[in-house]
Amino acid sequence: MSLRIQRRRFLGGALAATTIACPIGVVRSEPLAFRDDPFALGVASGSPRETSVVLWTRLAPRPLEGGGMPDQPVAVDWQVAEDDRFARLAAQGTEQAVPALGHAVHIQARGLRPGRHYWYRFRAGRASSPIGRTMTAPAAGSSPARFRFAFASCQQYEQGYFAAYRDMAARDLDLVVHLGDYIYEKSWGSRLVRHHEVGIPTTLSEFRDRYALYKLDPDLQAAHAAFPWLAIWDDHEVADDYADDRSYTTRDPAQFMKIRAAAYQAYYEHLPLPPSARPRGPFATIYERYRFGDLLDVMLLDDRQYRSAPACVGGGRPTTVPDCSERTLEARSMLGQQQEAWLDRQLGSARARWTIVAQQTLMAELARQAEEGQRFWMDGWDGYPNARRRLLDSIAAHKPANPVVIGGDRHAFFVADLRHDFGPAREPVIASEFVGTSITSQGPGEASIRGALKANPHVKFARGDKRGYATADLTPALCTIGFEALADEKRKDSTVGRLATFVVEDGVAGAKPA
Ligand SMILES: [Fe+2]
Repeated sequence: MSLRIQRRRFLGGALAATTIACPIGVVRSEPLAFRDDPFALGVASGSPRETSVVLWTRLAPRPLEGGGMPDQPVAVDWQVAEDDRFARLAAQGTEQAVPALGHAVHIQARGLRPGRHYWYRFRAGRASSPIGRTMTAPAAGSSPARFRFAFASCQQYEQGYFAAYRDMAARDLDLVVHLGDYIYEKSWGSRLVRHHEVGIPTTLSEFRDRYALYKLDPDLQAAHAAFPWLAIWDDHEVADDYADDRSYTTRDPAQFMKIRAAAYQAYYEHLPLPPSARPRGPFATIYERYRFGDLLDVMLLDDRQYRSAPACVGGGRPTTVPDCSERTLEARSMLGQQQEAWLDRQLGSARARWTIVAQQTLMAELARQAEEGQRFWMDGWDGYPNARRRLLDSIAAHKPANPVVIGGDRHAFFVADLRHDFGPAREPVIASEFVGTSITSQGPGEASIRGALKANPHVKFARGDKRGYATADLTPALCTIGFEALADEKRKDSTVGRLATFVVEDGVAGAKPA
């Protein structure tokens, strides 16, 4: 069922402003009158659990000028209902939207029933929000017959319209997984259709305005209002190709960590993340596990915040360069020790039919053969081969049923078999991998895709010329991955069509074309 953003007024009764108790220290006399719509950035939900879901909005009547809110807390009333007319309320309350969070709220609505749809809305002063629809996770031990989700990444605002999200919002999905590059800090690319208008953000207020610009897009708002999201960041939410405290664009780590703190804060403020992901300065824990009955487990990873510095580039930009001994040092990490140990424990306790490892980029080796030998792209897993081997070893040791890795970042569709040895040796397939393309960000050239396919036989499919996203349709017997491609991301009204379909059968490693 599709969901259109609707604007309906709250109707009297329990939510009339005068009947709400005032939290201590908050002055509430007359309802605030906003000259401009404080809900211009839309609504969102995420982090679905069996009996709870996170509801998000940010009050911003002047979204591109710092939000336009007074420097004081403002009460936001919220409601969750079992129906879209709000006749049967399931939960409600009042939250303070505070200046320290850019007047964003992350409400954990609790006491809900597992595996069902809910509708939600907010009110601030006399203004009402659009209505969003969300869904709780199926109960532990339950056996859903089907679960459908989309995964998306890389939405450079200037390089195209978000028509992919309009298409996504009209589908019947249970979840959206966003794999990073929700915003871009910098302007780049050719044939731009719209503009950031300002330079690279480095402060919290500049990052807030960048998110506001992206979130004003009606198609992105529609996809948020239609489904709960899980989200992880990649590099462009902070700075191109950064690794922990290293950035080739801001060489002083102390200076860079100030930018990272502002960027992480703004990311948190604009996505329906759980309160556990709230940053503490330049640190935030976004890796997490979500369970959906006994059908699927989703492990969300953060491969940016803790990774070792890029190898073989001497502190420079981690591009595709000849191999060097630093690349294969055992201690090099993509996830950091703590997250790596956490993932190993999660894989050890994974019992669902499908185990989805959701991370930022292509995990399969993508060696480039050149005259002087092999070259590797140092910003991806190829720059951290032992970290990748340890992760695949962990999957092979714990044997979760049907592991499937999903990723973004490469602005291309990929299907690959993940093996211990990516050479010609006939190693068993440990996991299947699917990389969605980009919502808008421009992709690699035809020659590089052709070269990648030729030099890497474990890569079964690669297309860099299409923008869009991927869908996953899971049943106990089958995982069907659809590559959904835009006809033309430079057109607001672009259509979307199926480019390719792959399936993974229960108990059979490796993807096959459908
Ligand atoms: Fe990207």
